Amino acid sequence: MIGLRFFFTLQVACLTALASQSLPPPQNLLHGVVANSSQCRCFPGDACWPSEEAWSNLNATLDGRLVATIPIASVCHDSSSTPYSAEACEQLRLDWADPNIHSDSSSSVMAAFFANMSCDPFTAPEAQCVIGTYVQYAVNASSARDFQLTLAFAQENNIRLVIRNTGHDYMGKSTGAGGLAIWTHHLKDITIHDYVSDAYTGKALTVGAGVQVHEALTAAHAEGLVIVGGDSSNVGLAGGYSQGGGHGPLASTFGLAADQVLEWEVITATGQHLKANATDNTDLYWALSGGGGGTYGAVLSATVKAHPDVQVAIANLTFANPNPTSEAYYDTVKVFLGSLPNITDNGAVCIWLLSNDSLTIQSLTAPGFTSQKLQSLLQPTLEKLDRELIPYAYAVEDFPTFLDSYHSMSVDPPASEGSFGSRLISRSLLSSDSSIASLTAALRFIVSKGALISGLSVNVSRTPTTPNSVNPAWRTAAFSAVVGMYWNQTSFEANIKDQQLIRNVLIPRLADLTPHGGAYMNEADFGQPDWQYVFYGENYGRLLAIKEKYDPYDLFYGLTAMGSEAWISQPDGRLCRA
Ligand SMILES: Cc1cc2nc3c(=O)[nH]c(=O)nc-3n(C[C@H](O)[C@H](O)[C@H](O)COP(=O)(O)OP(=O)(O)OC[C@H]3O[C@@H](n4cnc5c(N)ncnc54)[C@H](O)[C@@H]3O)c2cc1C
Ligand SMILES: *[C@@H]1O[C@H](CO)[C@@H](O)[C@H](O)[C@H]1NC(C)=O
Ligand SMILES: *[C@@H]1O[C@H](CO)[C@@H](O)[C@H](O)[C@H]1NC(C)=O
Ligand SMILES: *[C@@H]1O[C@H](CO)[C@@H](O)[C@H](O)[C@H]1NC(C)=O
Ligand SMILES: *[C@@H]1O[C@H](CO)[C@@H](O)[C@H](O)[C@H]1NC(C)=O
Ligand SMILES: *[C@@H]1O[C@H](CO)[C@@H](O)[C@H](O)[C@H]1NC(C)=O
Ligand SMILES: *[C@@H]1O[C@H](CO)[C@@H](O)[C@H](O)[C@H]1NC(C)=O
Ligand SMILES: *[C@@H]1O[C@H](CO)[C@@H](O)[C@H](O)[C@H]1NC(C)=O
Ligand SMILES: *[C@@H]1O[C@H](CO)[C@@H](O)[C@H](O)[C@H]1NC(C)=O
Ligand SMILES: *[C@@H]1O[C@H](CO)[C@@H](O)[C@H](O)[C@H]1NC(C)=O
Ligand SMILES: *[C@@H]1O[C@H](CO)[C@@H](O)[C@H](O)[C@H]1NC(C)=O
Repeated sequence: MIGLRFFFTLQVACLTALASQSLPPPQNLLHGVVANSSQCRCFPGDACWPSEEAWSNLNATLDGRLVATIPIASVCHDSSSTPYSAEACEQLRLDWADPNIHSDSSSSVMAAFFANMSCDPFTAPEAQCVIGTYVQYAVNASSARDFQLTLAFAQENNIRLVIRNTGHDYMGKSTGAGGLAIWTHHLKDITIHDYVSDAYTGKALTVGAGVQVHEALTAAHAEGLVIVGGDSSNVGLAGGYSQGGGHGPLASTFGLAADQVLEWEVITATGQHLKANATDNTDLYWALSGGGGGTYGAVLSATVKAHPDVQVAIANLTFANPNPTSEAYYDTVKVFLGSLPNITDNGAVCIWLLSNDSLTIQSLTAPGFTSQKLQSLLQPTLEKLDRELIPYAYAVEDFPTFLDSYHSMSVDPPASEGSFGSRLISRSLLSSDSSIASLTAALRFIVSKGALISGLSVNVSRTPTTPNSVNPAWRTAAFSAVVGMYWNQTSFEANIKDQQLIRNVLIPRLADLTPHGGAYMNEADFGQPDWQYVFYGENYGRLLAIKEKYDPYDLFYGLTAMGSEAWISQPDGRLCRA
């Protein structure tokens, strides 16, 4: 979730507001692969770019699964492969914030900076509609063999390789100019089974790489189980979400999504088909569980812990700044911040949104709690509001199962666009009145510049039985503070300015309070300075070595992904060796 989903809620609520392997795997396909000495990836138009015939041959070996990109907003433009349609375009504009529009497509990405207005539904019909930063082709993968053939083709032809699942990535890691994508969306198998190992004995869910959170939750629910998924029901469970960390409403109870993974089934850059778990390929297991998507290997399936379903109480609360000239509003914000450790230590997750005008707890999810007991967690804030005579809207409700609560009161963020940055705020900052005052002053400064802050409050301190590479800053964090600003649909330059304000002025205020701290790599600024340390902490060196071992020729690339320093993206998006 990032902010904009919140922004959307705010606008609308207005402040009240694995796969069949029928074919044998290709043998020796990648035998004798050597590093391509060419400095740059081949780009469309280059002499080295594969001929129509070569693409057609690839398509034939893939049984017709190669998809040539037609940007989904082609219906909004004159000069493109799809005829202009005012009606279809208007509908697309209305649906643009629906993540499904993008996640069902083989090419569309949600992060507007990385779509780069290549084919934008909000520009005039005569404006450009080019493939631009979208991938050129995607392989609608159905098997390990499809992964292997695609990897081999990209390697042999020196083409940028992208792994694309839902297209949620804020860093643009699931797209790329001149790219060929392994598109995982249709790998939808889910099996529920008993898992027995030294590390874990219990129910487990094995999901294909394309399974989205809502699908996994629904399958688990039918068996009286839950899994850790995002606030967003649309993100890909086995994809960047779990590989990068993965928070959600059950994280304080069971840990991050990365902490749930028992096994990864992986195709490596050189085409090996491996299983990585607590005893086999343990380095790869460690890296994939928290060290970021799209860089160590292409995941075909993941096996995650499933837990017994729980009853859930959820609350929401919203109040406005009644009097900008008094301190009552920020004094109440301080009390709320001070109450967060008690909330998350009790296994609850609190998602809130702060602006200069209002504080909204969009959902406080408390597994195993009754609504009455949940109210005790919010009591300090409610009492403060009463004392300050600040009006508020408050609701609390009981649900018999987690899924009921998820459907009814949780926040399912839209794929809205914006400029973002973030910082993990350590719990130690909530331990004294003076540190809470300093934190509140920083938050106040940030919202005074017109930004919104989305707080994702969790306690994910408990490290999993088998260690993983989740950014250590998560383990001491009270919340992830995501700072966001609305996307300006008419001026790309204005968005760049906002992004710079976030990068150079707003996030540094939080970084000053959290020296040697970190940020959640999946919801952050794509231009975060010192990203190696901020996103990976002390794990950076070991992760880089594992990346180099499993991807010796740098086939996998993603901005801010491990090893991406090996490449520099040119102004036209072409990757060249650094
Ligand atoms: C609207 C919205 C809501 C969100 N809500 C949450 C939330 O509640 N909690 C949370 O923690 N995060 C949330 N996020 C952030 C989300 O976790 C990241 O965007 C994440 O990268 C999504 O992973 P994906 O696989 O679905 O997306 P993609 O964009 O398709 O992929 C993301 C990255 O993972 C890689 N990848 C995907 N599949 C594979 C695979 N099979 N093998 C190897 N690499 C792969 C891609 O190459 C890319 O690098 C949200 C983002 C958005 C836009
Ligand atoms: C709070 O939850 C109630 C349901 O219990 C819902 O009706 C209301 O719209 C929610 N309020 C906000 C601001 O989301
Ligand atoms: C691949 O083949 C299928 C089936 O023949 C066809 O529908 C599709 O358009 C082809 N893809 C490309 C990129 O030509
Ligand atoms: C992708 O493949 C699935 C079956 O695996 C099929 O249902 C779907 O229509 C295909 N989509 C595209 C765009 O080729
Ligand atoms: C390396 O890339 C070039 C194009 O840049 C291509 O012609 C050549 O065949 C590639 N070599 C190997 C070994 O992949
Ligand atoms: C890891 O996978 C291997 C191969 O499937 C299996 O033999 C082993 O028992 C697994 N280890 C654990 C801890 O599950
Ligand atoms: C902490 O939460 C518990 C509920 O588990 C509640 O009884 C207690 O009053 C809370 N403490 C404070 C200081 O809010
Ligand atoms: C919040 O900021 C907006 C502009 O960014 C301003 O119009 C509004 O008055 C501010 N509200 C308060 C309470 O300061
Ligand atoms: C998480 O909860 C445990 C147990 O209550 C506590 O010791 C730890 O300090 C908490 N960590 C964070 C970061 O909140
Ligand atoms: C978008 O940016 C332009 C140029 O700075 C500005 O004039 C316009 O008001 C902005 N639009 C919005 C909605 O902020
Ligand atoms: C982004 O768009 C601009 C303006 O059309 C273009 O000059 C630039 O090459 C594009 N960047 C990428 C990476 O495609």
